[in-house]
Amino acid sequence: MQFENILVEIHGKVGLVALNRPEVLNALNDRLMDELGQALLAFDADDDIHCMIVTGSDKAFAAGADIAAMADYSYMDAYKSNFIGRNWEQIRSVRKPVIAAVAGYALGGGCELAMMCDFIIAADTAKFGQPEIKLGIIPGAGGTQRLPRAISKSKAMDMCLTARMMDAQEAERAGLVSRIVPADKLREEALAAAQAIAAMSLPMVMMAKEAVNRAYETTLSEGMQFERRLFHSTFATEDQKEGMKAFLEKRLPAFKGI
Ligand code: CAA
Repeated sequence: MQFENILVEIHGKVGLVALNRPEVLNALNDRLMDELGQALLAFDADDDIHCMIVTGSDKAFAAGADIAAMADYSYMDAYKSNFIGRNWEQIRSVRKPVIAAVAGYALGGGCELAMMCDFIIAADTAKFGQPEIKLGIIPGAGGTQRLPRAISKSKAMDMCLTARMMDAQEAERAGLVSRIVPADKLREEALAAAQAIAAMSLPMVMMAKEAVNRAYETTLSEGMQFERRLFHSTFATEDQKEGMKAFLEKRLPAFKGI
């Protein structure tokens, strides 16, 4: 596939997408979001890919939706084209894990895109924020919804109302990011995490992702029931037999993904 706004790489069983509009700090326009969705869904359909990474540049993961592209939108332009809704959430239909590897700015739609991924590994240079209010708008891709769930109402309100940025340390303390790594090691560390995931049983990885995500959409008792059903189903797989046999035989498992 030919892309204009992203770079796509394959590292073993890991598919990596780097946002690539450096002249505008990876501002997210419609075309880029279409390409990102296409690339991730193609990886999702590829049996040889088990985990994905979305990353940016050293300076910016993404500085938000493309302000120049939307500055003249009318309400009808936004409504009729289903702006944001049309293509931004494609990443949520990806069933294999997607890691966001964030260095530099992750602002507005950039922060929201990172939160759509399954977890965020941050470089020590990362800066997160929802500065939309300074533009006379509010977040439109989950900033007011995913951020409170990730970091608490109080901090999310602070971010959305004052437009201040949060550095990597604060983001880790608040639970937005899973770990911080030195900026020059971000890619290496993200690839190592992705490769560790890719070495697991793929159906188990997909089930674990599905079960954790269910926690955000349902009650605790429904979620527990969902987890229990999936857990029971793992005993129908060869990978469960292999994983436990390998443990008992003190060797590494050789998962077949069945
Ligand atoms: N859209 C379009 N262009 C952008 C952009 C964006 N979101 N962010 C940066 N750029 C462009 C700048 O216009 C500039 O272009 P020129 O060189 O042609 O002037 C170039 O990228 C470099 O940016 P700066 O000169 O501003 O770089 P800086 O280092 O001085 O500042 C920054 C960096 C603090 C990130 C600043 O660029 C900035 O504040 N960007 C906008 C951040 C923002 O408001 N994001 C929210 C967008 S709205 C949104 O995302 C809605 C949603 O919920 C989906």
